[in-house]
Amino acid sequence: MIFYFTGTGNSAWVAKRLSTILNEPCISVTECTGSPYVYNISDQERILLVTPVHSWGPAVRMVQFIRNLKINGYNNQPVYLICCCGDDCGYTNRIVEAELKKKDIPLNGYFSIQMPNNYLLLPGFDVDSKTVERSKLDNADRRIQKIAEAITNHHTTALYTQGSLPYLKSRLVYPIFARYFRKRISFYATEACTKCGLCVRTCPSGCITLTGEEGAPVWDKKGECTQCLACLHLCPQRAIEYGNITKRKGRYHHPDYFKK
Ligand SMILES: Cc1cc2nc3c(=O)[nH]c(=O)nc-3n(C[C@H](O)[C@H](O)[C@H](O)COP(=O)(O)O)c2cc1C
Repeated sequence: MIFYFTGTGNSAWVAKRLSTILNEPCISVTECTGSPYVYNISDQERILLVTPVHSWGPAVRMVQFIRNLKINGYNNQPVYLICCCGDDCGYTNRIVEAELKKKDIPLNGYFSIQMPNNYLLLPGFDVDSKTVERSKLDNADRRIQKIAEAITNHHTTALYTQGSLPYLKSRLVYPIFARYFRKRISFYATEACTKCGLCVRTCPSGCITLTGEEGAPVWDKKGECTQCLACLHLCPQRAIEYGNITKRKGRYHHPDYFKK
């Protein structure tokens, strides 16, 4: 089984490509409800976790999923991690490995794929140019084939981009992001908003309601926003901003992303 989380569609696309090549079903973790979420695994199965890299760690929603997961019938079936990053992943693998270890589940392999960047919320960060975006999407398919081969042949390979200063990025920056940055919600809709509700339907964390003035979207500040930026990137009117930082920046979503 392939479990994935996605904001702007990259990880969903990767999960679906792997699902086709490896003949494994896939499901979004946002559909895995129940506390705990119980998954019955068969003897010959394997588990793949596909997540975007957020601040050099796994998307917080993927961590929450792992913590809430109970696998019935687990008997050392292999578990793999596939990270979708814009550039590099730091110790995302080690963070996931530590979460699995709490459940006595080893991580048998980890991989990364560079996909178009969707991070905008700090100065100096923007979406990729169209040329870089195209080349990342073209290369991604070859990378997915290699990852699928490695998984099929039980090879541990070096198909993972850690990048520089992983300790600083993943052990210092990621915890601050996960604990504090995520809670600072500065999203708002501009006058271009048509109140179509797409942001409400695409938010994987259910943080948005159309309860503002004349049905405008409102972000629940106490909610569990993962800062995946789906709302901002997918808005067809480009009506969603985050403070002033996103005003002159681009927007991105995977070309095959299904708009709800
Ligand atoms: C909050 C946030 C933090 C990010 N941090 C990183 C990062 O540390 N390293 C990186 O290479 N890409 C980073 N990115 C880019 C995403 O990992 C990348 O674009 C990914 O493919 C998005 O996947 P998705 O479309 O499934 O959401 C970040 C994106 C967001 C929204």
